[in-house]
Amino acid sequence: MSFKSILAIAVAGTVAVGAVASPSSRLTPVVYLAGDSTMSLGGGHTNYTQGWGEFLHYSLDSHGITVNNSAVAGTSARSYTREGYFGYIANALKPRDIVVIEFGHNDGAALEPTDIGRGDCPGGGDETCITTFDNVTETVYTYPAYYRNATRLFRSKGATVVLSPPTPNNPYNNTEGIFIYTPGNYTRYAAAVALDLGGPAGGVAFVDHGQYVANIYKELGRAVVDNYFPKDHTHTSRIGATVVSQAFVKALVCAKLGTIVLRNYVINSTESVPGYCI
Ligand SMILES: *[C@@H]1O[C@H](CO)[C@@H](O)[C@H](O)[C@H]1NC(C)=O
Ligand SMILES: *[C@@H]1O[C@H](CO)[C@@H](O)[C@H](O)[C@H]1NC(C)=O
Ligand SMILES: *[C@@H]1O[C@H](CO)[C@@H](O)[C@H](O)[C@H]1NC(C)=O
Ligand SMILES: *[C@@H]1O[C@H](CO)[C@@H](O)[C@H](O)[C@H]1NC(C)=O
Ligand SMILES: *[C@@H]1O[C@H](CO)[C@@H](O)[C@H](O)[C@H]1NC(C)=O
Ligand SMILES: *[C@@H]1O[C@H](CO)[C@@H](O)[C@H](O)[C@H]1NC(C)=O
Ligand SMILES: *[C@@H]1O[C@H](CO)[C@@H](O)[C@H](O)[C@H]1NC(C)=O
Repeated sequence: MSFKSILAIAVAGTVAVGAVASPSSRLTPVVYLAGDSTMSLGGGHTNYTQGWGEFLHYSLDSHGITVNNSAVAGTSARSYTREGYFGYIANALKPRDIVVIEFGHNDGAALEPTDIGRGDCPGGGDETCITTFDNVTETVYTYPAYYRNATRLFRSKGATVVLSPPTPNNPYNNTEGIFIYTPGNYTRYAAAVALDLGGPAGGVAFVDHGQYVANIYKELGRAVVDNYFPKDHTHTSRIGATVVSQAFVKALVCAKLGTIVLRNYVINSTESVPGYCI
């Protein structure tokens, strides 16, 4: 066997080991995606829908960063916290990793008369609610409190964080079939937490994914967008999810240089990505 082929095997071996490497030995950063069914594998209705997190990797330098889509259908900022998913990400994190946090579709569930374990305590500050879920008494915090807590944890591991409000439901899903999108409190809350924890300089960026998606849906019109929602007004088709992912990438490339680390890994030029900067 020639030296060259031994070397080739050695290199191939290194790559193979790298693919299953433990967090402590891997060389390239990982971007972890924390969110609900609109982001997760399967997109809520397997075989009909897909989550946008499955498409992000197409727009990133695959040699520079990998995507770990840790989104879980049915979760909210609260249940993702309670069920330990933020903790799992924290345990896997290495310095230079990135975490995208995007919740909101399940956070509005009422706590009364029956708490299904997802709804947050209403409010934008330190408010708390006491409820009973699964026969267990639980102190429930606000949406921004869960965002803040997870962000601090990830920052303490040397990761940077991108905070995002939820993506819109089908904005044409109303009796008139006209376009309706109003940014909700989650947009305000996510932006405020990012600012509060130091903003880009502090390794915490805000990306208004909701508005970027809404702008694209408005341009595309009702006929096209209705087709992105094959089962209900929340969960997107595969094609819909690619558009939602593109909107996220557009928001990244439109951000001021140096403000979002994840932007450095995007392979697409600003102009080549559909949509417009806000
Ligand atoms: C999805 O498709 C596969 C293969 O056709 C099928 O076995 C599975 O039951 C389907 N799942 C759902 C939720 O429809
Ligand atoms: C993806 O991240 C989760 C934590 O959210 C971790 O448990 C899992 O092992 C990771 N998957 C891979 C393939 O690294
Ligand atoms: C809650 O408690 C009731 C009454 O003890 C019991 O019937 C029920 O199975 C419990 N539910 C859960 C989810 O543990
Ligand atoms: C904060 O994060 C820790 C670690 O994940 C978790 O145990 C705790 O429940 C979280 N608290 C809030 C309010 O999110
Ligand atoms: C949004 O926040 C305002 C106060 O800042 C509150 O009055 C309003 O009820 C909130 N809306 C929802 C839908 O929670
Ligand atoms: C919204 O969409 C759902 C299912 O996708 C449908 O059942 C409902 O009638 C729609 N509502 C309006 C007002 O179009
Ligand atoms: C970026 O370019 C890749 C490769 O051409 C393509 O697959 C992907 O869809 C593009 N991303 C966006 C957001 O346009």
